[in-house]
Amino acid sequence: MHPFIAPSILAADFARLADEAAAVAGKPDRGADWLHVDVMDAHFVPNLTIGLPVVEALLRATDIPLDCHLMIEDPDRWAVGYAEAGAHNVTVHVEAAHDPVALAADLRAAGARAGLSIKPGTPLEPYVETLRHYDTLLVMSVEPGFGGQSFMPEVLDKVRAARRMVDTGHLTLLVEIDGGINESTIEAAAEAGVDCFVAGSAVYGAEDPARAVEALREQVVRASAHRGWAS
Ligand code: DX5
Ligand code: ZN
Repeated sequence: MHPFIAPSILAADFARLADEAAAVAGKPDRGADWLHVDVMDAHFVPNLTIGLPVVEALLRATDIPLDCHLMIEDPDRWAVGYAEAGAHNVTVHVEAAHDPVALAADLRAAGARAGLSIKPGTPLEPYVETLRHYDTLLVMSVEPGFGGQSFMPEVLDKVRAARRMVDTGHLTLLVEIDGGINESTIEAAAEAGVDCFVAGSAVYGAEDPARAVEALREQVVRASAHRGWAS
């Protein structure tokens, strides 16, 4: 595989979401791998963004697989709707989920990949067995709630631990990172073993978002050449 880049539409113009998705589509195999969609409910995080109707509209507007990051309370009740709508990957927070193992099964049964996210202060070890039921682990490198915050390098210890468990076959999942990823921080994340990089401001703040996606991916390939990425 090659490193996945997932632009976050939180940093895009919400009045022009179809155009903003098209702006990162890029050339075949060079553009965004996933489009990251931050769903916030003003309860789990102190911010409110978009919900299922907008995700459904985006699904009609783009072919880029949607990576829905649900920063909401009671995902056990709401997350499956995103999978049923056609989201490619649906990530819930372990701090909010009541029964994350059952929820993963429901997400997969509805046709999506199941993702589990941990906030910067949440340890990884208590959830390792739970993660055996998941397809992605989203390590937050900022406190969830807002784009444009500074990367927290201390979360890379969790990335390294997850990478080891994937490389030794204990876990089978994609390691994803979210928050403060840009040209200054992405190499450290790549070296630590991330597979999928969410980037909001670094992509949509660039003059050419599709080129920014390519440039970030090229940086990852250089910084973690030992992973033997396909070109
Ligand atoms: C934060 C969101 C992130 C955010 C990333 O709560 O989960 O996905 O959009 O934005 P940047 O890349 O600007 O930190
Ligand atoms: Zn996110």
